[in-house]
Amino acid sequence: MKLSLIGFGKMGRTIKNLAEKYNHKVISIVDPYSKEATHREISNESIQDSDVCIEFSTPESVISNIEAIARLKKDLVVGTTGWHNELNRVKELVEQTGIKLIYASNFAIGVNLFFMIVRYCARLVNQLNSYDVSIFEVHHSQKKDIPSGTAITLGDIIRDEMKQKDEIVTNLTGKIDPNQIHITGIRCGNIFGEHSVILDSNVDTILLSHRAKNREIFAEGVFFALDRLNKVKGMISFQDLLRDTLLKV
Ligand SMILES: NC(=O)c1ccc[n+]([C@@H]2O[C@H](COP(=O)([O-])OP(=O)(O)OC[C@H]3O[C@@H](n4cnc5c(N)ncnc54)[C@H](OP(=O)(O)O)[C@@H]3O)[C@@H](O)[C@H]2O)c1
Repeated sequence: MKLSLIGFGKMGRTIKNLAEKYNHKVISIVDPYSKEATHREISNESIQDSDVCIEFSTPESVISNIEAIARLKKDLVVGTTGWHNELNRVKELVEQTGIKLIYASNFAIGVNLFFMIVRYCARLVNQLNSYDVSIFEVHHSQKKDIPSGTAITLGDIIRDEMKQKDEIVTNLTGKIDPNQIHITGIRCGNIFGEHSVILDSNVDTILLSHRAKNREIFAEGVFFALDRLNKVKGMISFQDLLRDTLLKV
């Protein structure tokens, strides 16, 4: 496929470096600041020859980028985090414009398997009523949002599955309430991304963890999504796409 990269930071570069190996070709790079960008903004000229746009920019710019790309009727894969509170609005836009959009706070296939494992555990633990739960994540010191979108997704999964948990807290300053799920993050060095879910009872602790070894883990998921884009209708999360694919096997 012919790709336009929107945002040319760490993820944009990783996708460019791996595109050929996966039989794709990067034909334009849109980034207002990068010296290596072919264009400074999204326009008919910058993306018209591509089959799909891959969006890894910033939480501040992602929504306006999605809007501009949808107006130009290009399909989209969105990896930028920090905008999922606007999912309904974006879904409407996708329906109005007839494009396809695959999104994820984390494109790592292993992380999406981890989401399914955590959902299954939370569902089982919910029957027992004896486990408390919390989430922590560790990322490199350049990451702009905290906690990570992936940690928030884990929180949403647990809130869906455990009836005693109905609120996520990320800025706890005092005692936690039993209905709350505490999510914390720390920033350190060059760590690609670690997420853990702690399930704690009076007699034991279950620790579920996922650790990314390098940034290619996210790019591989993006290429997996691209290979299935022709089967997608409208807007779908990568998690649903992966589950639909794996359960069909
Ligand atoms: N879904 C996943 O699997 C996954 C994996 C890794 C990261 N992420 C997320 O993806 C996003 C990008 O990550 P990253 O590590 O590549 O970050 P990054 O290295 O900071 O790259 C973001 C790039 O986008 C540029 N940019 C700023 N405004 C823009 C605009 N309006 N249009 C296009 N580009 C713009 C930034 O320029 P400046 O630096 O000059 O502002 C930077 O070059 C973050 O939200 C991150 O959390 C998602």
